[in-house]
Amino acid sequence: MTTFKLNGKQVSSTVADDTPLLYALRGDFEQNGPKFGCGVAQCGSCSVLVEGKVVRSCVMPVSAIKNKEVTTLDGLAVSDSQLHALQQAFR
Ligand code: FES
Repeated sequence: MTTFKLNGKQVSSTVADDTPLLYALRGDFEQNGPKFGCGVAQCGSCSVLVEGKVVRSCVMPVSAIKNKEVTTLDGLAVSDSQLHALQQAFR
């Protein structure tokens, strides 16, 4: 089990340690912001922030983010009624 912070909340993933973070985010935590594109860290569609730095979640094993802070697109909102500039751009 890997415990980490996801968009400010403490969570635990029960997937195997070598499972890509992308699959844990989408499967366990219903985070639909990061997408599967190339699967080889080239396109960036799976990008999330880990400790404030952009990482490609398709190639990062979930065990690598133990006790770290992960932020997805959904976690960027300033509040429920105020979107982050990046979210507004997607909209
Ligand atoms: S899916 Fe393309 S970089 Fe991760």
